[in-house]
Amino acid sequence: MSRPYIIEAQNVSYTYPDGTTALSTVSTGIKQGEKIAVLGENGAGKTTLFLHFNGILRPASGTILFNDKTVLYDRRSLRELRSKIQIVFQDPDTQLFSARVYQDISFGALNLGLPQDEVKRRVDAALLTVDIEHLRDKVTHSLSHGEKKRVAIAGALVMNPEVLIIDEPTACVDPRHQQNLLDLFDKLNSKGTTILLSTHDVELAWQWADRLIVMHKGTIAREGDPYTIFSNEHLTQKTGLCKPLALEVFDALRQQTSIPSDAAPPRNKQTLLAMLNKKL
Ligand SMILES: Nc1ncnc2c1ncn2[C@@H]1O[C@H](COP(=O)(O)OP(=O)(O)O)[C@@H](O)[C@H]1O
Ligand SMILES: [Mg+2]
Repeated sequence: MSRPYIIEAQNVSYTYPDGTTALSTVSTGIKQGEKIAVLGENGAGKTTLFLHFNGILRPASGTILFNDKTVLYDRRSLRELRSKIQIVFQDPDTQLFSARVYQDISFGALNLGLPQDEVKRRVDAALLTVDIEHLRDKVTHSLSHGEKKRVAIAGALVMNPEVLIIDEPTACVDPRHQQNLLDLFDKLNSKGTTILLSTHDVELAWQWADRLIVMHKGTIAREGDPYTIFSNEHLTQKTGLCKPLALEVFDALRQQTSIPSDAAPPRNKQTLLAMLNKKL
């Protein structure tokens, strides 16, 4: 039996006050425990969709559901929704507002009314998890963009969310910490957190996601497993997606050598290299 959706959008349309229609009858669902990447060109509607998922934006028409219940927009319902669905914005400057790192990360947990020692325990754990213990006493505005991003992620983690939504998590983050973040998302996911992220990085999407949602001009162009999505040339051309390198090499190899037709395409560099070593 297929699991029910934890978050669902049903025929959601949204137009910004200046008249820009950002979402047109978008219907999609996220299942509990999934690892999903949302792809799409600038302006495709990824951020606008995310802002609907935790109630920051309200659909002009259509419905958002959380755990099969229609999202309501009174203060109490939104507070509850946002304690379960945490969103990390693309630009950390719009997220961080406390003078010091520790203060900023503890904000959400203090707001939940948790006792001081529990707040401290959660903040310390989040600092460790995101590898920013050395930043704990720093002034927030003096941090680099990538450091701010990780502080924002730590601030979301202290809430122990059921769903973590991260808008462009790896933009401006150096390669080592990009990999750390992906490992962190996997770790959280293995403990049951549903992870939804948006990215322009097809290599990241290919390597990491269980399922992809491709957006195009305010609509869902296609959803599916990464192999089916990236093998659909009509779709990738229309939506401006490049083929991930490992898949490109795999396809070329398959034309030239006798790779079994049911062989799984390599999802990362190590598996690709292992396959090449065997074949060449
Ligand atoms: N605050 C806003 N006011 C007016 N238009 C906006 C605003 N934010 C986004 N848009 C527009 O809505 C569309 C979707 O944007 P967005 O959801 O940010 O796309 P993406 O995250 O995929 O780049 C774009 O045309 C964008 O210009
Ligand atoms: Mg965006």
